[in-house]
Amino acid sequence: MTHSFKAMVVTENPPGTFTRRITQKSIAELPPGDVLIEVRFSSLNYKDALSAIGNKGVTRTYPHTPGIDAAGIVVEGKGSDFSPGDPVLVTGYDLGMNTSGGFGQFIRVPADWVVRLPEGLSLKESMILGTAGFTAGLSVSKIVAHSIHPGRGKILVTGASGGVGSMAVAILSRIGYAVAAATGKIEEADFFKSLGASEVIPREEIKDTPKKALLKERWAAVVDTVGGEYLAAALKTTAYQGAVTCCGNVASASLSLTVYPFILRGITLYGVDSANNPMAHRKAVWEKLAGPWKPDSLFAITNEISLSALDSYIDRILEGKLKGRTIVNMTDSQI
Ligand SMILES: NC(=O)c1ccc[n+]([C@@H]2O[C@H](COP(=O)([O-])OP(=O)(O)OC[C@H]3O[C@@H](n4cnc5c(N)ncnc54)[C@H](OP(=O)(O)O)[C@@H]3O)[C@@H](O)[C@H]2O)c1
Repeated sequence: MTHSFKAMVVTENPPGTFTRRITQKSIAELPPGDVLIEVRFSSLNYKDALSAIGNKGVTRTYPHTPGIDAAGIVVEGKGSDFSPGDPVLVTGYDLGMNTSGGFGQFIRVPADWVVRLPEGLSLKESMILGTAGFTAGLSVSKIVAHSIHPGRGKILVTGASGGVGSMAVAILSRIGYAVAAATGKIEEADFFKSLGASEVIPREEIKDTPKKALLKERWAAVVDTVGGEYLAAALKTTAYQGAVTCCGNVASASLSLTVYPFILRGITLYGVDSANNPMAHRKAVWEKLAGPWKPDSLFAITNEISLSALDSYIDRILEGKLKGRTIVNMTDSQI
């Protein structure tokens, strides 16, 4: 087995200044853990970019290798249920936060973070989905469990060109919902069509009207990925007994609201956390993503890059300029 591998390493020097480069790391540098995995694919999420620019809410100590997603082949299972050669994926927990992450060609993690690759997904497809697809799957599972069937009306997805948003549009349309995609990239009509959206809305149109406690009912449910006034507006425009899911804060972490959507329309606001979602539910959602919820459009909305190209994509995701999913092919030996 090789003892060194390539990884993106973010360093802090001088304090408060962060630099990232692709370099060699050794297996011995990895944290202790049960399962050593040779990473074949990773993916880029907004949180990875925060870790890569020194956001201490995500990563406390540097040098550090980001990457909250990894899919690959088990090299050592150390008494766990995993054996060398098993295809597996890891998303969330502490991977890529304070544990060396998927932007390295090897990771070592506790066995209870590891999900066996479900039948119906390749390693590459599992990373096209990645944390974004898993989070979208969790959001959709809340809407389905809330008894919102396709006949109840349209579902709004905010941040629709982003990782979670595009996956939510694709999953919801795959299982028969009419989906309105709210976006800042209205010119990308073909992209949203390929995801299965039935309507594309400029995001300014769904911004909040702060003086009004409630607005005209428009949606059976909303998958919100951006927060702030978009989330406030989503809660005010969801129809009676509807549901809104909240997972992100790219627009804002604040939420300014009255209680009226809850006490007059019976709206439910569901929080979605993918990182620490319990393993039994995690596996159940991955089974759905590999089967009946698997988007038809996975490859059409994916950009595959090498580790050497990752740096510029980190800047682009921070600027909100990426669309769909960006996966990183970790088998590329070029630095
Ligand atoms: N809770 C969890 O477990 C969990 C898991 C994954 C992600 N997240 C969070 O969910 C959010 C989305 O993640 P992601 O990986 O999908 O990010 P992403 O790929 O960067 O997508 C975010 C999208 O939001 C829209 N957007 C960007 N800046 C905006 C602004 N200032 N105002 C309004 N909309 C804006 C853009 O879409 P349009 O141009 O189409 O509008 C952008 O593509 C992030 O906050 C992330 O941290 C949470």
